[in-house]
Amino acid sequence: MSKSDSRASLDRRELLKVGAAGLGLGAAAGLTPMFAAADDDTHAQERPALGPAPATPFASDPIDVVRVGFVGVGGMGGAHVRNYLGIEGVEIVARCDINEARNEQVASWVTDAGQAPPAMYGRDETDFVRMCETEELDLVMTATPWEWHVPVCVAAMENDKHAATEVPAAYTTDDCWKLVEYAEKHDKHCVMMENCNYDRPEMMVFHMARLGILGDILHAECGYLHDLREIKFSDEGEGLWRRAHAMVRNANLYPTHGLGPVANVMDINRGDQFEYLVSMSSPSQGLQEWGMEHYPEGHPKRSERYVLGDVNTTMIKTVRGKTIYVSHDTNLPRPYSRIHMVQGTKGIFQGYPHRVHVEGMSPGHQWQEWTELLDEYDHPLWKDLEEQSQGAGHGGMDFIEDYRLVKCLREGKPTDMNVYDAAALSVVVPLSEWSVANRSRPIDVPDFTRGRWAQWPQLEILRA
Ligand SMILES: NC(=O)c1ccc[n+]([C@@H]2O[C@H](COP(=O)([O-])OP(=O)(O)OC[C@H]3O[C@@H](n4cnc5c(N)ncnc54)[C@H](O)[C@@H]3O)[C@@H](O)[C@H]2O)c1
Repeated sequence: MSKSDSRASLDRRELLKVGAAGLGLGAAAGLTPMFAAADDDTHAQERPALGPAPATPFASDPIDVVRVGFVGVGGMGGAHVRNYLGIEGVEIVARCDINEARNEQVASWVTDAGQAPPAMYGRDETDFVRMCETEELDLVMTATPWEWHVPVCVAAMENDKHAATEVPAAYTTDDCWKLVEYAEKHDKHCVMMENCNYDRPEMMVFHMARLGILGDILHAECGYLHDLREIKFSDEGEGLWRRAHAMVRNANLYPTHGLGPVANVMDINRGDQFEYLVSMSSPSQGLQEWGMEHYPEGHPKRSERYVLGDVNTTMIKTVRGKTIYVSHDTNLPRPYSRIHMVQGTKGIFQGYPHRVHVEGMSPGHQWQEWTELLDEYDHPLWKDLEEQSQGAGHGGMDFIEDYRLVKCLREGKPTDMNVYDAAALSVVVPLSEWSVANRSRPIDVPDFTRGRWAQWPQLEILRA
């Protein structure tokens, strides 16, 4: 792949779409949501001409030492770098960030850990292409703002590198297909790093479900409920880009933290499949009010206008008839929650606070603290890695996530999360946007597996 070919893959549409990242919030209108017209009632989902998906989950040849290049080493990218420095068999070869000071800081962590200084990229917003073309890397991991996830993954895969991206992997249906297309065309992993799949309560629920303790799982409720007003208005970090999305998109913008663990428990892409969804949003008031309360007369942030409904509610039906409620709620005062309710024919787990009721085991009609069951049902992976993950981000789950990806690459095994999971979980963003704009009409979820979901094996009980 020549340099010009590779750059050409960042086509005009993509560069328009990522405009807000480069030009700041003033250019927020440069973002092009998948379904821009609120009254558009055509939603034909073109899918690229692809052959069948692989008959068995994709695995690449084992990699002895995984050479990694990071793109975007801000809050979350920096956390991944720190984790990788504590995992055996990893070499951090390059890093790319348009924030020079941060780039240097992260490089110092690498050299302090005794590794060679990683090559530095980031002279402009598409310098990751040069990194992918120049460096000998096995894996490119992006933790950039959302706009850049797909361009980075595509540049990685077409330059013969595996890709991993922060969440959501993509936010248009076309881009979800694009990730699948490139992963299949280039025989590469394209993993969405959904760390909440590895949190201890979520993994305990998965373990209990696999043991049949909760019976047949029929329904789940989940979401991302996090008061982000201060973060969205900050003059650094996510404040530089996340609020822009609230100006142009009314959707369930960040579904994967809640949905990832629920999808695993329900065997999505491994025995079941999201079939269709409906979505509706409340009025948008939280960010407007915050701006008015926190900035003086005449400040530009006071005159910003948002379209993102403060609370989005999306309901998904699976092919096997199961139901999932997904909430997105980031603009109002409230304590943090991902809800995480999983209900089966024999019992229920309810998160925030975490509690369980299992028929015949718990006192009648009463909850038990989840910790009462931890000794018996703690996921084996947590038992394996509890000590090593101490002190890592988000209570240790981020380390376990990174550890597992490296292990799968080193052993040549299928990754826990694959490109089909990335696409199925992320596509909830554009489809909810369409449904909100169309009086909550149902919209089909594309089958990115093209029927393979009925054959691919269940996710196993993972070990370190
Ligand atoms: N899994 C989680 O728990 C979790 C938590 C926070 C953020 N995230 C995700 O991580 C990603 C980053 O979020 P964050 O909080 O770290 O944001 P951030 O703003 O702190 O970091 C983003 C970094 O990317 C850099 N950047 C921006 N455009 C770039 C480009 N074109 N090329 C190279 N570098 C570029 C910025 O300079 C910055 O250092 C987002 O996708 C977000 O949704 C996930």
